[in-house]
Parts: sequence; C-alpha cells; structure tokens
Amino acid sequence: MRDPSVRTPNPYTPGFNQAPMVFAGRGEVIDAAAEALEVAAFDRRTPRPLILVGPRGVGKTVTLGEISHVAAEQHSWPTVHVEAKSAGILTELVDKLRAAKSAFGGTVPRDKSGKKSITGATFQASAFGIGAGVDISTSDKQQVTSLAEEFRTTMTIAHSRTSGLLLTLDELQNASPKDLHELGGALQEIVPENWPLVVAVAALPSLRETRGSRLPTYLERAEWHSLDSLPEPDARDALTGPAEQSGRPLQTDATDTLLSMSGGYPYAIQVAGHFAWRASHGSTTITAEHVAKATPRIQADLGQLFTSRWEDASGREREYLVALATAEVIDDEPNGGDVAKVLGEPVRSVSYLRERLIKKGTIYRSPTGGLHFITPGMGDWIRRQQKH
Ligand SMILES: Nc1ncnc2c1ncn2[C@@H]1O[C@H](COP(=O)(O)OP(=O)(O)OP(=O)(O)O)[C@@H](O)[C@H]1O
Ligand SMILES: [Mg+2]
Repeated sequence: MRDPSVRTPNPYTPGFNQAPMVFAGRGEVIDAAAEALEVAAFDRRTPRPLILVGPRGVGKTVTLGEISHVAAEQHSWPTVHVEAKSAGILTELVDKLRAAKSAFGGTVPRDKSGKKSITGATFQASAFGIGAGVDISTSDKQQVTSLAEEFRTTMTIAHSRTSGLLLTLDELQNASPKDLHELGGALQEIVPENWPLVVAVAALPSLRETRGSRLPTYLERAEWHSLDSLPEPDARDALTGPAEQSGRPLQTDATDTLLSMSGGYPYAIQVAGHFAWRASHGSTTITAEHVAKATPRIQADLGQLFTSRWEDASGREREYLVALATAEVIDDEPNGGDVAKVLGEPVRSVSYLRERLIKKGTIYRSPTGGLHFITPGMGDWIRRQQKH
C-alpha cells in the first residue's frame, strides 16, 4: 500500500508545450503520421506534409511530440524541431539540419579504397529505385548554396545511416510569407528525389487564411488535420489516467464535475486535474469535496487566459466579442452576418472589428466561414461576465 503521507508529484501538466502523462485521443492524426513515416521509410517516397491546425491549447505541440516518439520508436529516426518566431525561421532550420547531419556521423561513409561509397546520382538510383537523377552534393562539399541543398546534404547522411528525418515546424503562422515561400520552394524541389523525410507542421487556424493567396503549393497540397477539444471518452481518459497511474484515482462524481468545467479542452483538463490533485493531498482518492475546494483555483486560472485577451480588446472590439458570445448560443457556427445581426448593425460597418480580432488572434474563421474564439471556453466566460 502506498503511504498517503508521502507526497506524490503532481501528475498533471497545466502548461503549454508540456507532454501530458496520458496523451489521450488524436488517433486519426497519429495514424496518419505513422502511415507517412512508413511510406517514407519503406516505400521510398516523400509523403505529403501533415499540417495540424487548431486553437490555442488543444495540443498541437504535444501531438508533434507524439509523432516524434513514433518516429523514434518505430524507425529510430531523429527529429529536427523548429518553432517559428517573427524573427525568421530559416537560420534556425539550417543550423538544426547541420546539427542533425553531425549527429548522424558527419560524413558520407567511404569504402575500403577510400572512395565515397555513395555518390549523388548512383545514390538516387540505387537507394530509391528511381532513374539516375540529380547529382547530389555530399558533405565533402561544404559550400552550401540553397536551403534545398542543405536538406540534400543532411538527407544523404541520414540515408547512408539507413535512417531518415522527421521535421516538425511549430507555430508556422508566425513565419513571414517570404520564409514560407523559401521553405515551401526548397521542400517542393526535393520531394521528387524521394528522401526519407516526413514534415509535420502545427499552426493556429490563421495559417489557413493564407491558403490560396500566400501559401506555397507544397503546403497547399498538405494533409490538413483540424485539432479541437477532445471528445468525451478521450477527455475522460486524459483526466482520470494520470491520477489513477499515480495511485490516487478520481471518484466518478469528481471526474464528472471536472469534465464539465473543462469541456474537453486539453489545457483546461490539465488545469482541472492539477488543482484537484493539490486539494487532495493525504487522501487515497480524489473526491467531489476536493473538487469543490479546487474549483475557485481552476476558474481563476482559466479566467486569466480570457482576461488577457479581453484586456487587449478595444471598447468596440469588446462589443463584437460579446455579440459573438451571444450568437454562439443561437448557432454553434455563427458567421459575420450572425454577429452583425446581434449588434443590430450592417455587416459592412462591423467587418473591420472582425478582421482586427482575427489579426490579434482572439478569434478565427473556420474553412466554412464560422467564427470561433481561439481560446476554447471564452464564449462561456464572456457570457458569465455579462451576467455580473
Ligand atoms: N491529447 C492530449 N491528452 C492530454 N493532455 C493534452 C493532450 N493534448 C494537449 N494536452 C495538454 O494540453 C496543454 C496544451 O498543449 P499544447 O501546448 O500542445 O497546445 P497547443 O495547441 O500547442 O497550444 P498553442 O497554440 O498555444 O501553442 C498541455 O498542458 C498538454 O499537456
Ligand atoms: Mg503549441
């Protein structure tokens, strides 16, 4: 029996970018990634990139981390992970590709006679069964001229080690159009060469807004996956799993209350679990009473997310947010017209507010034109504030 007086570490991860103890759901995305990895590793084709889009805190980054685990466990592939910042993504990408190259062993292996055992065209032809193609420069040529060339030198070494590479690009909505095009162009260029390379991207839904106009073809043709709140059974696993595995299970009524507070939103599930765990130190289970004690802390923590967005909005923008929160009750996918109707104003005269809030990242537009808060639960929070 576990001694309840010994303090067990809190098994919940209420922060961004933190891998949860129990990664629940997301089977469809993980399966798609596993398939892409198999195609690249065994079928000798570079698959289409995977793009995960979704609001803040739904688990895009930790899902990229899971994909990285699959690559490591199933194929012993390493991952190059880059988070896009406004300062530019390409320098970091090049640095990390070079670091990966060194990690693979640095140079192309030579045979006993001292000749390179793999040379450009023969490498292409023999390794991947395609006709003699591009002359690939190996690591012997250090003078790299383009991003595509950087990929080639790293992939050459990777392949000579019978390995491959997973490239994960996070927060891609921050990349400038110029960087996106350079990156897309380089990847597009090397795809026909069939390297064992899988690219997985995570971004806020605003990346979709650039489809058609600014997005390079390579990304346009990607396999897009929308991530949203977890369905009930998965949310339940995410909540109950860590407590159970840590020897202090949640009672069913306690679970139900915490689930209704978090609405399947992964970040909120971790916050709810974290405070319920804290309120139950010394006990062998987590009860409804512990949950009642934890509730103000949970609400305050989640409230902070919304408060910062709210304070960032002007008076008119707040009116628009309240109208969106109201429209959500009538229709779960309200569009700009529905919000304008609640405001009692013509769409044209309020559309600038919608665009400003989309730009600020407070709301987003789904592919079907519906408007949503980027932080799940914000509509509820606004409606509650309006009542006070
Ligand atoms: N499938 C999951 N099961 C359990 N917990 C999860 C899951 N996905 C995410 N979480 C938890 O949710 C929180 C947010 O995850 P993450 O940082 O990956 O979100 P995100 O979508 O990348 O957010 P942002 O857009 O702000 O970068 C973390 O606390 C993480 O542990
Ligand atoms: Mg993230």
